[in-house]
Amino acid sequence: MFRSIKSTYVVLAGIVASAGFAFGAAAADLHNGEHHYEECRTCHALDMPVIGPPHCNVVGRKAGTFTGFEYTDAMKNSGLTWDEKTLDQFLNDPLTFMPGTAMGFAGVRDPKDRADLIAYLTKVSSDQKVCAGIK
Ligand code: HEC
Repeated sequence: MFRSIKSTYVVLAGIVASAGFAFGAAAADLHNGEHHYEECRTCHALDMPVIGPPHCNVVGRKAGTFTGFEYTDAMKNSGLTWDEKTLDQFLNDPLTFMPGTAMGFAGVRDPKDRADLIAYLTKVSSDQKVCAGIK
């Protein structure tokens, strides 16, 4: 009897531990994402073109289509739409993924850092207090 209660605890502890692990793996660390986004701010603002195009509403936008920014042909003709997957591919190594792009940025190579960065970018770029009307 005592033995079986004990093994029930062991099983429960295992479930709690693996649920905790699964949650930890899925949840983005927005603080880490913000930290990595600091590098983007050298060239990008949310609401206006700087060296790069504005990031407001970039997720879901067709690549190279912000009116008033002079993109390279590589970007304009990429046929991409920015989503979690294409951002992940591009930001890993922009110049290799898109030869000819003018985004002179080495990339964020760590997959977890990239996921955090993309989660942060998705959040701030869709904040309609800052981004309303910016396509
Ligand atoms: C050295 C300057 C520079 C840095 C740093 C930089 N970018 Fe860029 N980015 C650009 C330029 C320039 C373009 C336009 C590229 C082109 O036309 O080929 C661009 C384009 C983009 C685009 C395409 C947007 C669109 O409208 O299609 C995305 C997305 C992007 N950058 C995200 C980022 C993120 C996220 C970071 C930080 C991890 C970052 N960039 C860092 C200069 C930079």
